[in-house]
Amino acid sequence: MQRRDFLTGAVAVGAGVVFTSGKLLADEGKGEPPIRLKSKDSPSALEQGHVPLVDVPDKVKAGQWIDVNVKVGFMKEHPSTPEHWIRYVSLLADGKEIAKVERNVGGIVSASATFKIKLDKSVKLEAIQNCNLHGTWISEAVKVEVS
Ligand SMILES: [Fe+2]
Repeated sequence: MQRRDFLTGAVAVGAGVVFTSGKLLADEGKGEPPIRLKSKDSPSALEQGHVPLVDVPDKVKAGQWIDVNVKVGFMKEHPSTPEHWIRYVSLLADGKEIAKVERNVGGIVSASATFKIKLDKSVKLEAIQNCNLHGTWISEAVKVEVS
């Protein structure tokens, strides 16, 4: 990890996210929004291992159960150790949290998560994850067309 990457990550520590009545709010008093990928062309080492990727079919049938795989991170799998792990992964549909998985400890559960959902209308899916050392990160939005 380069020094610049470390400093970027250090600033993000503690910038978690909580949801109240479907609204996205920053937690821990930081008021910081989740971190987004700055450039697809030159992602930093921290971005490669922390920006989530939502992997889902782009067209599905209404009411059909589908798997939404959230990979953390989008280029390089985030570690899961007792010292460094992903505390939660949330799935958002049109900006509202619809599901969340939490890990109370590291080293047992992988960084990535799979959600099984069914949709009755087309939506925009996003994922948010929180690393215990490097803060809260959000994926790019993925459109799912429901027919
Ligand atoms: Fe991390």
